[in-house]
Amino acid sequence: MARVIVLVIFTILVVALFSTTVQAQDDVTWAKRVDTGKEVVTTMEFYFHDTLSGRNPSALKIAQSATTNSSQTGFGLVFMADDPLTVGPDPNSKLVGRARGIYGSAGQTDVELIMVMSYGFLDGIYNGSSFSLLSANQALNPVREMAIVGGTGLFRLARGYAIAQTYSIDLTTGDAVVGYNVTIATYI
Ligand SMILES: *[C@@H]1O[C@H](CO)[C@@H](O)[C@H](O)[C@H]1NC(C)=O
Ligand SMILES: *[C@@H]1O[C@H](CO)[C@@H](O)[C@H](O)[C@H]1NC(C)=O
Ligand SMILES: *[C@@H]1O[C@H](CO)[C@@H](O)[C@H](O)[C@H]1NC(C)=O
Repeated sequence: MARVIVLVIFTILVVALFSTTVQAQDDVTWAKRVDTGKEVVTTMEFYFHDTLSGRNPSALKIAQSATTNSSQTGFGLVFMADDPLTVGPDPNSKLVGRARGIYGSAGQTDVELIMVMSYGFLDGIYNGSSFSLLSANQALNPVREMAIVGGTGLFRLARGYAIAQTYSIDLTTGDAVVGYNVTIATYI
């Protein structure tokens, strides 16, 4: 008899516990989680044209500090850019997108830019999609890696990286052409 009572109490406890758990999940009507596990990896190769000289510069100096001129690294200098992205290093090759945003000199002891830029695409299925790059850029190194932290359109939920390689630079004007190899993971 005592055993039966213990068993009944145990069953009631288990049922109560189970229904609480179920209720805790059902409680939330405004959110849900779905495990899709479907990852897509996109790789891209293009060239970035940052032109400071001439009558139509693609990057403008917008700010600097009172001490920037006496800094060896131009610390505090800030640019606003709208730089074309093309399939080849020739600026007249096919335009596939534009990199828009701000970069500035963020290193006091060595040249390092901070890049806060949106890379928006215009070509084919990527037209209207963009990814956001937020990263330090050791611009004088021939090759550097930058972090991609999000995106829109085909690049929703993007995370990835860009390997940037200077193709050409004019040290007098600062005009540069930079090759990009980008790898991005998203979900279907
Ligand atoms: C820094 O140098 C630039 C270009 O030579 C000049 O236009 C600007 O007035 C200077 N700024 C200061 C704060 O000295
Ligand atoms: C990209 O999309 C815009 C807006 O929908 C459209 O006007 C434009 O023609 C498209 N460009 C290409 C190359 O498909
Ligand atoms: C992409 O990476 C390959 C292999 O390192 C390199 O040969 C190529 O020049 C890079 N592309 C660009 C646009 O920099």
